Amino acid sequence: MDYEAKAREILNSMTLAEKIGQMCLGFISNENLNEMLEAIRQGKYGAYLTYADFSDKKDMHDKIMQASRESRTGIPVLYGKDVIHGHFTVFPIGLGMAAGFNPEFAEKVFSFIAEEASSEGIFWTFSPMIDVARDPRWGRIAEGFGEDTYLTSRMAEAAVWGLQGRDPEALGKQEKILACPKHFIGYGAVEGGRDANTAEISQHTLMNVYFPPFLAAMKAGAGSIMSGYHDINGEPVSASYNILTHMIKELGGLDGFIVSDFGTTAHLLKYRYAEDERQAVDITVNNGMDMDMCSSLFTKHLEKLVEEGKIPVGRIDDAVLRILKTKLRLDLWNRKVGPLKDKGQFKLSDEAKSLSVEAARQASVLLMNKDSALPLSKDIKKLYVAGPYVHARREYFGCWCLDGVSHVIEPVIDILKRKLENVEIRHLDYFMSELILSSEDYIDTVIYFGGEAPERSGERNNITNLRLPEGQEEQIISLANRGKKVILVVVAGRPLSLARVIPYVYAILYVFHPGTGGPEAIAQILTGEAEPGGRMPVTVPVSEGQIPLYYNSIQVRSDRPEHLKYNDMTEKPLYCFGYGLTYTDFKVSDIKVDRNEIRKNESVRVTVNVENTGTRSGEAVIQCYINDCVSSLLRPCKELKGFKRVTLDKGESKIVEFTLGKEELGFFNHKGEFIVEPGSFRVFVGLDCENTIDTCFVVTD
Ligand code: GLC
Repeated sequence: MDYEAKAREILNSMTLAEKIGQMCLGFISNENLNEMLEAIRQGKYGAYLTYADFSDKKDMHDKIMQASRESRTGIPVLYGKDVIHGHFTVFPIGLGMAAGFNPEFAEKVFSFIAEEASSEGIFWTFSPMIDVARDPRWGRIAEGFGEDTYLTSRMAEAAVWGLQGRDPEALGKQEKILACPKHFIGYGAVEGGRDANTAEISQHTLMNVYFPPFLAAMKAGAGSIMSGYHDINGEPVSASYNILTHMIKELGGLDGFIVSDFGTTAHLLKYRYAEDERQAVDITVNNGMDMDMCSSLFTKHLEKLVEEGKIPVGRIDDAVLRILKTKLRLDLWNRKVGPLKDKGQFKLSDEAKSLSVEAARQASVLLMNKDSALPLSKDIKKLYVAGPYVHARREYFGCWCLDGVSHVIEPVIDILKRKLENVEIRHLDYFMSELILSSEDYIDTVIYFGGEAPERSGERNNITNLRLPEGQEEQIISLANRGKKVILVVVAGRPLSLARVIPYVYAILYVFHPGTGGPEAIAQILTGEAEPGGRMPVTVPVSEGQIPLYYNSIQVRSDRPEHLKYNDMTEKPLYCFGYGLTYTDFKVSDIKVDRNEIRKNESVRVTVNVENTGTRSGEAVIQCYINDCVSSLLRPCKELKGFKRVTLDKGESKIVEFTLGKEELGFFNHKGEFIVEPGSFRVFVGLDCENTIDTCFVVTD
C-alpha cells in the first residue's frame, strides 16, 4: 500500500479539529470513561492510555475502538500501554535482557510480548526503553540495556524487530504491535541520578553515546519515538527543535511520529520555558512534537493557535500524516480487539514457561564462586534458605510491570525442595535464627536470597546508597560468622555494591529482576541443571563515591596514574562490564586479523580460538572491543563492537570471528558526519572488557 498517498487522502477529508484530535493521546480511567468515550466519538483523541484494570469491563477496549469508528472520520484510536518487558508473562527487566548479550533471543522474547499484548487490543507499547545509563543511583537504569552504546543498539533493534516484525509490512499483522523507543535523548545522564533532572551532555557525547541506539531503532523501522521528561544543554528535550526535528526526523529519518512523555507540554511552565499554556503548545508543536501525551493542552489551545497563524497548518498536516501513516502500517482499521482475559485463569503455556525461564537464566550473572561452591554439592543433606526472596513471587517482576500474573510463579524454596528431594531444606526465618543456628543441627550451607524490591528501582526510585537494602548485610555476615557456607543470590534492578559481604560469602549469583521464570531459572542454576547465562551489562562500582564509573571512558588511570585515582578508595570497579563466570572455564587465544591494512570503506575479519578448558560444557560470551589509537576527536579507551555466544563441550575449541567495518570503526564528528579516520586501531577480544587479548590493524585513506 502507498501509505503516504492513502494518509494524504484521509488527511484531505479532515477538519482542523479532527486533525488536532489525532495529535492528542488521552488518559482514560474508570472515573472519566464515559466522558472519554464521547470525546473519542467526536474525534478528539487519536490515542489513549490507561492504567485502569477494567477487569469488570472485559470488552471495554473494543467499546473504545468502536467509539472511534463511530466518529465522522472513522479513524481508529490507538491504545498504547507500557508493556515494557512482558504482559501476562513477564520477562527480565531491560538490564536482565541485556545481560544475555543475545539480541537474537531477545527478538523472540519481544515477539512473544507483542502476541500477548495484541491479544487484548494493545497495538502500541511504550517500549523498548533504550536510554544508555552509567549511574546506578538512577532508578530507571533498571529499564534500559545498560551502559554500553553498541549493546543497547543491538538490543534496541532486536526489540523493534520482535515487536513490529522485520519486514515493514509485518506491522499490519494482528500479532505485531507498534514499538516506541524512549526517552529521546540522554535521560540516563540526569545529574545525581535524580530522575527527570538536568543532564549536561556535549553534542559529541550525545551523538556518539546516546544517539546510536535510537538511530538503530529507527533503522529497524520503529514507528514512533517518545521524548523524555528531562532537559539537556538548556532545553527541555520534549520542546527542542534540535532534538525533535533535527535529530529525530532529519538525522534519524523517523518516518513515524514523536509522542511526548506524560504531560511534558504542561511541564514547560514549571520549566519557566513558556509564559502560559498557549506558549507551551506553540513551542512544542512548532519545534516538532507530533502527539501530546495526557497534558490536554493540545485539545485546549492548538486549534486557536493555528487559526491565529502562530502554528502553520503545514506543521499540523506533517504531524497528522505521520500518525495516519503509522496507523495504516498497523492496519488499525482491520484490527480485532479481543476481550480482556481473566488473569485469575491465566496459565503459563509451555512456550511461555521455557522462554521466560531461559530469559531469566540469561539475566543471571555468576559473580563469584569460591571453591566451586556452585552448583550445590550432591553431598548436601541439610540446607538453610534465608532472605526476603525465599517466598517471593511478584517481586521477581521488577519495575514497570502492569499486567504480570504472579500466581503462576512458584517460590524458589518450593522449587528447590522438589529438585533436592533428599535434602532437608529449612527456611531460616530471622525471628528464629538464634534457636536454629545455635542448635546442634549441623547445617553447613545457607542460601541467602537477598536484593531489592521492585519499588526500589524504576521511575522516580533513585537512591544514594548502593549497598544491599538495610539489614541484609548484617544477616549475611551473622550467618557466615556462625561458620556457615553462605551462597548469596541477589535479585535487583541495578548493580548494587556488594563489597562489604564479599569476604563472607562463597558465591554470588546476581539476577536482574528476571520475571516469571526467575525462581525456576535460579533453582536450575543453583542445582547445576543449568549454568548462569548472563554477563554484566553495567559496571558494578565498589561504592557510589566512584560514580560515574563505566568501562568505555576516554581516559584510564594508566594515562595519568597520579591523577586519575582516589586517595581513599580504588578507582577500579568491583566487577567490570561484560564480566560473568560459568561452571566451566574458557581460554581465548590466537587473535588474528585477515589483513593488516584496510581502506576506509573496507572491513577487517578478526578471529580468535576459544577453548573450553573446564570440566563441563558451557557457554562463553566472546566480546570484541576496539580502540581508535589516534583520532581527531577523543575516542574511548575501549568500545564494544561485537559479541557472540558460543557453546562448547569440555575440551572443545572453536574459531570465533568478528567483522569490523565502517559501522564499527566510525564515529560522528562535530559536523554530525559519520566518519572513519585513517590510522591504527587496536582490537581486543575476550571474556569481558578487561580480560582480553589484542592485536592491531591500520585503516588507510
Ligand atoms: C511515564 C514514563 C514513560 C511511560 C509513560 C506512559 O511517566 O516516563 O516511560 O511510557 O509515562 O505511562
